Amino acid sequence: MTRPSAIAKATDAGFDVRRVRDDFPALHQEVHGKPLVYLDSAATTLKPRVVIDAVADVYARDCANIHRAVHLLSQRATARFEDAREKVRAFLNANDTNEVIFTRGTTESVNLVAQSWARTFLREGDEVLITELEHHSNIVPWQIVCQQVGAELVVVPMTDRGEITREAFEEQLSPRTRLVAMAHVSNALGTVLPVEPLIGLAHEQGAVVLLDGAQAVSHVPVDVQALDCDFYAFSGHKLYGPTGIGVLYGRERLLEGMPPYQGGGDMIRSVTFAETIYNDLPYKFEAGTPDIAGAIGLGAAIDYLRSFDQEAVHAHENAVLRYATKAFGSVDGLRLIGTAPGKVASVSFLMDAAHPHDIGTIVDSEGVAIRTGHHCAQPVMEHFGIAATARASLGMYNTTEDVDALVRALQKVKELFG
Ligand code: ALA
Repeated sequence: MTRPSAIAKATDAGFDVRRVRDDFPALHQEVHGKPLVYLDSAATTLKPRVVIDAVADVYARDCANIHRAVHLLSQRATARFEDAREKVRAFLNANDTNEVIFTRGTTESVNLVAQSWARTFLREGDEVLITELEHHSNIVPWQIVCQQVGAELVVVPMTDRGEITREAFEEQLSPRTRLVAMAHVSNALGTVLPVEPLIGLAHEQGAVVLLDGAQAVSHVPVDVQALDCDFYAFSGHKLYGPTGIGVLYGRERLLEGMPPYQGGGDMIRSVTFAETIYNDLPYKFEAGTPDIAGAIGLGAAIDYLRSFDQEAVHAHENAVLRYATKAFGSVDGLRLIGTAPGKVASVSFLMDAAHPHDIGTIVDSEGVAIRTGHHCAQPVMEHFGIAATARASLGMYNTTEDVDALVRALQKVKELFG
């Protein structure tokens, strides 16, 4: 059997992409009469059977509320929910499960820090430092809180390759910087930010650091203790888990000093009309019935991912990315947007022949799913003087054959529009 060399290499390294593909039911369907080629994992990853089964099993067997009842179903649901928290803790290498807050996703995690930590501790004249390549979810919550407290939002510019350099960061960092909020990996460009040195510089100024890890968790190793970040936010659905569940990691010392984000059930110890005593961490930040099945599904996704050698997964994805970057170079009139070295998982591009929306529509008719638009990162588009890009993004199940299918579909775009 002939196999593309990149796949063979990754298989030899202990990662069998064909076995992985068998685990993802959504991959085995036709769209518009063509086999599906899914290249939109930066928007959401597909889900392996074990995650789908875990979620279904919660509703079929252990369908009960958590932390609330003595009956067996509730005990089982509670144990599975807390077991999922431990899996997240181990995945991030957090010190304690008290530091793992379940949220609806990255966006809610960032808003929690903005409205609890920043709104409490920022004063007029303080600065919040972000970068030019942030997703709207790591821009707007800071704009809101800066308006509320009279702080200033300061932006580190990126280079034309889509990088954030240490020099540009240092130029914007000041003794007034109280909080740095930055992506670990850019969703629009795939740039990996040099977060370790930047976190060190921020801490030297006494600033607290939040990393938006939405696009990083499935593509680069994450160890919150080694990174030494203060907050880390990510979404389950970009880690092969369900939608509607996410995580905020926070340093215990900081979380202890923060007021609740929302009031309601589970976040209280006792309530009278005169006074409410809040619950301990992590429940202080988990008001209301959470997405119980979602958290358990996320735990199953982490188990699934960790059943592979992580280095082999990342090496496979990087091999496919290199192949895609080279293959796109062979398409006449195609321009890459974002050319930082060491990128992961995503390739944004433009074609002379057609608008990104038309590219997306034509390749979809060939069975290839990519995302087109501003990718919720309009300042990135503004930097390049464009309104949108087409973006192909990878998951662990993609192959060089998927890239070939996209390149063939792009030739079709040229035929139709060129
Ligand atoms: N933030 C997601 C993306 O980049 C939805 O597509």
